[in-house]
Amino acid sequence: MVGTGVIDRFLRFGYHESIAVTLSDELKPHAAPMGVEYGEPHLILRPYRNSKTYANLVSRPPLSLNFTSDARYFFKAIFSQKELVFDFIDSSEVPVIRGDFDLYVVGRAKLSDMVGERAVFLVTAERVYEGPGSRLALSRANNALLEALVYYTKVAALVNEGYRDLTEYLNLLRINLNLVRKLGSHELVEMANIVEEELNGLLGDSLR
Ligand SMILES: Cc1cc2nc3c(=O)[nH]c(=O)nc-3n(C[C@H](O)[C@H](O)[C@H](O)COP(=O)(O)O)c2cc1C
Repeated sequence: MVGTGVIDRFLRFGYHESIAVTLSDELKPHAAPMGVEYGEPHLILRPYRNSKTYANLVSRPPLSLNFTSDARYFFKAIFSQKELVFDFIDSSEVPVIRGDFDLYVVGRAKLSDMVGERAVFLVTAERVYEGPGSRLALSRANNALLEALVYYTKVAALVNEGYRDLTEYLNLLRINLNLVRKLGSHELVEMANIVEEELNGLLGDSLR
């Protein structure tokens, strides 16, 4: 465990992407990419009210926020959660994700507001750990994969709600998938291809 000053150091740009791990009714860990706003002393989480993360947090406040720069973990949280390995540290109620993470925050979330489709939770950090680190030089392919995942999850949510005009998000998704194909490793390109396949499954033939 490290002092909370480490949060100031790692979350110094104010808004960061995490993978939030919450517990289901059966106490099974559930991982989902979630943005975290940090303005000392608060960590603010804004899950959509129709998300599993929201439902889990309303019933069980403990959570872990797992921070890494490596977009592959975000991909796995969305498409192949079985590949994530969970570790319970210091007999915490909720685990963290094993791997190349920079920072783990284990704490509790308290519902503070509802704004539109989103809930606002304030997270109190109870334990903070430095992980082994993502040790990754800046990569546009990595960034583009993360952006593609953001737009993919937006499109998936909008399709489920019956929205029709997805043009802007689909364009951004395409641009980012193409960047991954242009600049990414074989592994990242495979991930981009899976995102596209899943997208085609969501949309039928309309994207092609
Ligand atoms: C980088 C990234 C950040 C995200 N941030 C949020 C967020 O702040 N709130 C949210 O509701 N969904 C966010 N999403 C989308 C959710 O991860 C996605 O919709 C997820 O499937 C819903 O969560 P659930 O598994 O808890 O239902 C984000 C996705 C990505 C890739």
